Amino acid sequence: MISLNKDNLKNCIAANDSAGILHDISKAHEMLHNHRGKGAEFTGWLDLPSRIPDKFINDLQKLAKEVQKTSDCVVSIGIGGSYLGIRAAIEFLKPSKGLPIHYAGHNLNSDSLFSLMESLKKKRVTLLVISKSGTTTEPAVVFRILKKFMEKKYSAVQLKKRIICVTDEKKGALLKIAQKQGYRTFVIPDDIGGRFSVLTPVGLVPLAFAGVDIKKLVGGARLAQKEFSINDFVKNPAYQYAAFRYLLYKKGKAIEVLSSFYDNLFYVAEWWKQLFGESEGKDGKGIFPASVTLTTDLHSMGQLLQDGMRNVFETFLVIENQKQKVMIPKEKEDLDGFNCVAGKDLDFVNKQAYLATAMAHLEGGVPNMTITIPKADEENLGQLFYFFEKAVAISGYLLGVNPFDQPGVEAYKKKMFQLLGK
Ligand code: PA5
Repeated sequence: MISLNKDNLKNCIAANDSAGILHDISKAHEMLHNHRGKGAEFTGWLDLPSRIPDKFINDLQKLAKEVQKTSDCVVSIGIGGSYLGIRAAIEFLKPSKGLPIHYAGHNLNSDSLFSLMESLKKKRVTLLVISKSGTTTEPAVVFRILKKFMEKKYSAVQLKKRIICVTDEKKGALLKIAQKQGYRTFVIPDDIGGRFSVLTPVGLVPLAFAGVDIKKLVGGARLAQKEFSINDFVKNPAYQYAAFRYLLYKKGKAIEVLSSFYDNLFYVAEWWKQLFGESEGKDGKGIFPASVTLTTDLHSMGQLLQDGMRNVFETFLVIENQKQKVMIPKEKEDLDGFNCVAGKDLDFVNKQAYLATAMAHLEGGVPNMTITIPKADEENLGQLFYFFEKAVAISGYLLGVNPFDQPGVEAYKKKMFQLLGK
C-alpha cells in the first residue's frame, strides 16, 4: 500500500497544528461522501472503481486484442484530463505487449503533427478521439486534420472500425460527428470531470490498446477506494497528505514541488499538476504545483530548492523496489573513488541520493514529506491515482473552494475564439 512519511515536517508543523485540523478533515469527508459539498454533482469518481463492471473490462480487453491485430499503432487525440492520465500510465508502466500510442491534440504544433502524419503513412492506424465536452479547440482542430488523413487512407467502411470516440453521452460536436459517421463511441460519465477521468473510458480504452492490464489498474483503485474512505485521520494517509499541505500553505508555503527520483514518474507528475492546479487554484487561493525529476534536476533546480525563496515545501514520490537490479562493478584501480558502492545495485545509490536530498532540503528550510509506493505496476498506479484524487478533494474543501470546476480555463478560450472568429 501507499505510505506517507512526515518526519521531515517536524520543524514546521507541531502536533497541535494537526490536532486543530481534525474536525475540518472530518467535516470535509462528510461533505464529500454525502455529496453535500461544493461541486457535488462532479463526485462520481468517488465510488467509480467499485462501480466499473467487470464485464466492461473484459469486453474492452477483447476489443483491444482485435485492434492490436489490425493496427500498428494508435493515435490518441486529447488534452488536459483527456491526455495526461493516459500518458502518465503508459510512461510509468512502459507496457510491452500492446500497441505504441502516439499523442496529438495536446498542442497546436504544426511541425509535430506533420512529422507524426509522415511517420504514419505506411502504418495501420487506429484513431482514438477523446474529449468530454467534445468542443475543445485543440483536439477538435487536430481531429479535423487527422480525419482527412485517415479518409485518404481508408474507405468509409474501414473508418467505422478505425476511428473510435470517447465523449459525452448526450452532447457535444464530437458526439454529433461520431453519430453521423457511424464511429464507435464510449461514454464519459456526466458526473466525472476531466482531471478525475483516468479510470473512465478516457483512460481505460487507450490503456487497454497499449497493453496495460486494466483489470489490475482498476483493482488497485478499488483497494484504494476502500482504504482511503476511512474517516480516521490516523489511518488515512490521503487525509494526512491533504491536511499537511494545507497547514504548510497556511504557514506561507505557497509552492509544492513533487520530486521523484524516477524518470518514468515524469508524466505522473504532469497529471498530478493538472489535478491539483485546476482543483485548488481559484478564488485567489491555491498551492502552485511544480515538479522536478531527480537526480537530473538537482543539477539545474537544486540550487533554487536548497537556497531560494523559502515559500516552498516538497513532496517526494519514491518507488520502493525497482523491477531490475543493475549492479555497480568493482574496478581494480578505483580511479573515480567509487569502489565504495561496488557490488551495490544502482537503486541503492538513488535511494541514498533521496535521503541526502530530503535531509539537505529540510536543513535549508524546505519541509518535506514522502509518499512511497511499493513498485511500478498497475495495482500501485491505480492506488496512486485514487490517493491523489481523494487528497485533492479533501484539500479543496479545506481551502473552501469548489475542487471540481475550472472556470478559469474558459478565459483564454473566449479571447481565442474572438481572434479566430468562432
Ligand atoms: O479538467 C478538465 O476538465 C479540463 O482540463 C479538461 O480535461 C480539458 O480541458 C479537456 O477537455 P475535454 O475533454 O472536454 O476536451
